[in-house]
Amino acid sequence: MTTQPAIAVQGLVYRYDPELPALEGVDLEIANNAYLGVIGQNGSGKTTLVKHFNGLLKPTEGHVLVFGMDTRQASVGQMAHSVGYVFQNPDHQIFCATTREEIAFGPRNLGLSDDLVQERIQDALDAFALGPYADVPPAVLGYGLRRKVSIAAVYVMRPQILILDEPTAGLDRRSADELMRRVDAMHAEGHTIVLVSHDMQLVATHCREVVVMDEGRILVQGTPEEVFQEHAALARASLAPPPVTALAQRLADLGMPGHTLTIESFCQAYGRIREAHP
Ligand SMILES: Nc1ncnc2c1ncn2[C@@H]1O[C@H](COP(=O)(O)OP(=O)(O)OP(=O)(O)O)[C@@H](O)[C@H]1O
Ligand SMILES: [Mg+2]
Repeated sequence: MTTQPAIAVQGLVYRYDPELPALEGVDLEIANNAYLGVIGQNGSGKTTLVKHFNGLLKPTEGHVLVFGMDTRQASVGQMAHSVGYVFQNPDHQIFCATTREEIAFGPRNLGLSDDLVQERIQDALDAFALGPYADVPPAVLGYGLRRKVSIAAVYVMRPQILILDEPTAGLDRRSADELMRRVDAMHAEGHTIVLVSHDMQLVATHCREVVVMDEGRILVQGTPEEVFQEHAALARASLAPPPVTALAQRLADLGMPGHTLTIESFCQAYGRIREAHP
């Protein structure tokens, strides 16, 4: 396996409007097989940042390297072989006449055998319970189903770097859990995952590293345990730790660790405290 970072962001500035920078100088290295969460308030630059990772946006200043390749020199088509991006808004991504065609589009362009393409399409339809809608135009489906189609259309390619921009917004619990089970499995197989989310519990549970964006810059970076104890920075970014973490922090005087991220770890710590003070 290469030791080169999956993505290297160097002095990245991006302006949609010449007067208003959306990114004001971002430096970030994302290791191969990282599982990175990107959090921050609305308009802080998360989507603008991750759209640079597959070359959809090109830097106004600075560089973005994907496995060493400068995205300025690569077409979005070339990048699509190694980077899959699930758009925040599924309607910016969906363009085919049926769900099956939407999911088939990517793998057909990867040069895979017909059998493998068919196998992948079926697996993606099954993974997101889209079988009943395979021959339906995605445009007529409700928001949650359109979101699943947009995720399936990228998941089916098994990109080495998978970028998900608010993937669970609009999904029911079971669909969100199944999605994250699949994403975790891809991470375990060696893929690099970038997850943009407003769901702090989702980020705390799944990500190994977190960056907090604020006004076009990275405010804090670290493990979820570290970042969710950075109260001042979180407040500045209009964020709060997951409720179970906030509760653990309120119970610090009982010996509850402030880096508790999940209900499971809360219960374990609670068990230890009860054993120590029967
Ligand atoms: N297409 C665009 N044209 C002009 N300005 C834009 C465009 N897209 C985003 N911006 C501006 O760039 C800044 C960063 O926006 P971005 O969409 O990256 O934020 P975000 O962190 O993804 O927000 P959200 O949590 O709402 O998705 C904001 O000030 C936004 O208004
Ligand atoms: Mg966004």
